[in-house]
Amino acid sequence: MPAHEPVAVPAFLYGTAWKEDRTEALTELALRSGFRGIDTANQRRHYFEAGVGRGLAAAYRAGVVTRADLFLQTKFTYQNGQDHRLPYDPAADLATQVAQSMASSLEHLGTDHVDSYVLHGPASGAGWTEEDAEVWAAMVRERDAGRTRLLGVSNVSWRHLEQMALSGAETPAFVQNRCFARRGWDRDVRGWCQERGIVYQGFSLLTANVEVLRAELIADIAVRLRATPAQVVFAFARAIGMLPLTGTSDPEHMRQDLAGLTLTLAPSEVQAIEVLAG
Ligand SMILES: NC(=O)c1ccc[n+]([C@@H]2O[C@H](COP(=O)([O-])OP(=O)(O)OC[C@H]3O[C@@H](n4cnc5c(N)ncnc54)[C@H](OP(=O)(O)O)[C@@H]3O)[C@@H](O)[C@H]2O)c1
Repeated sequence: MPAHEPVAVPAFLYGTAWKEDRTEALTELALRSGFRGIDTANQRRHYFEAGVGRGLAAAYRAGVVTRADLFLQTKFTYQNGQDHRLPYDPAADLATQVAQSMASSLEHLGTDHVDSYVLHGPASGAGWTEEDAEVWAAMVRERDAGRTRLLGVSNVSWRHLEQMALSGAETPAFVQNRCFARRGWDRDVRGWCQERGIVYQGFSLLTANVEVLRAELIADIAVRLRATPAQVVFAFARAIGMLPLTGTSDPEHMRQDLAGLTLTLAPSEVQAIEVLAG
């Protein structure tokens, strides 16, 4: 089991990627709608973390939530995943880059700690490298210093995780991956996580699985539950132990995503969806 204090993790994470100037307003709206978990990254190319912080501040000021009500997750991103707007000195060593990126995230988010700090992606698609080991050790130090409660890795394969474990690295609390139905909803990685008590966070559950959203099986279940196909996919994700992310910009979809938390699929439906595409 990962060595960490138990932390309440919400059943849904609201993702803040690709929202640019709307980030502040959509983060506040997500909190007003009832989301209590926020996912972001100190990667200006795809996220506007300072805008997330402003959305949080607006919700605090309006008395919608307090910091203690929230699960805040952000990420460290290597330079090759960034544009020119870097949150660290690219000439510094990786451990220093992690410390600088974290300090910048805390400033953006107006907090002294996040709840989860995620390595956005390993340095190489081929396996867990020495750079990853250096970054992960620096992330562990951030955790030990109290600047994050938990640690995670993202965009990883079974091989990355296996090599990470073999290197003696501390087990992450979270794995966050794009979840393709045609790969058995990331079956190998989910299985690896399940054996070790790691929470699997799935993103692109809708956008990576457009064919599933149109499948007759999903439509039939949606009719039975009086739900939308998207709600059925999120209910399935939860039923197989996943923590789903949604990045909707639509207030009605925010409402539907949270309302769907009460939906329960039959075990036979869960099994059928799991093998629907791969
Ligand atoms: N670790 C990584 O590398 C990584 C990569 C990608 C994403 N993420 C995280 O995951 C979050 C979610 O990203 P995503 O790729 O899953 O895509 P997304 O940004 O959530 O996009 C979902 C798409 O589905 C549509 N949609 C239709 N019905 C919906 C419903 N009921 N609920 C939600 N969406 C609905 C949305 O449109 P409407 O806006 O009109 O609803 C939107 O176009 C990101 O914001 C980010 O935080 C992480």
